[in-house]
Amino acid sequence: MQNIYPKLRKADILVLATPVHSILPGGMQNFINRLVPLIEPILECRDGRTRARCHEYVKIKKILAVVVGAWYEIENLELPVKLIEEVAETYSINYSGAILRPHAYFMRGDSEISKDIHQKLEEVGFKFIEEGLLKKEDLDFISQPIGNGKKQRENSTNHYLKRKEEQGLS
Ligand SMILES: Cc1cc2nc3c(=O)[nH]c(=O)nc-3n(C[C@H](O)[C@H](O)[C@H](O)COP(=O)(O)O)c2cc1C
Repeated sequence: MQNIYPKLRKADILVLATPVHSILPGGMQNFINRLVPLIEPILECRDGRTRARCHEYVKIKKILAVVVGAWYEIENLELPVKLIEEVAETYSINYSGAILRPHAYFMRGDSEISKDIHQKLEEVGFKFIEEGLLKKEDLDFISQPIGNGKKQRENSTNHYLKRKEEQGLS
């Protein structure tokens, strides 16, 4: 973290990127805990909630969430997104939105759709840095459902049951 503080001092965008790990990976929460020194503890009430602001030297103007998960429905990614939104509110930094990729294991292969999504991600990243904007249609393209949820659950369950049987555990 000591290496990251100087970078945080110079940054104008903070990207908080995390996999979903039932539900939030501890590493992400630890990182968020260590952002606390960026806050100047002069508290205020906004929309009925206690909030703070960053020290003047902090230049971060936008927070972007990037969340990936293995399960099919995009709703599985909601909790980490909510957490990142809360961080933005608490620190009084603009929350710019979320890049979401459910059933992310599809991105490991070199299918056309996986390549197209990777390319879109790159475009969206550059556009966000240059113009500070995220287009809904681009975000929807990146998050688009691939395949069939029921089939994926069955494949995953069958894979597990097969391994269980092979290991003489069933
Ligand atoms: C301990 C653990 C818990 C996980 N829990 C969830 C979960 O609740 N929902 C989900 O969609 N994915 C879950 N995942 C899958 C990860 O989000 C997925 O592995 C990751 O997004 C893809 O990154 P990878 O290619 O590095 O595995 C979990 C993974 C691990 C290791």
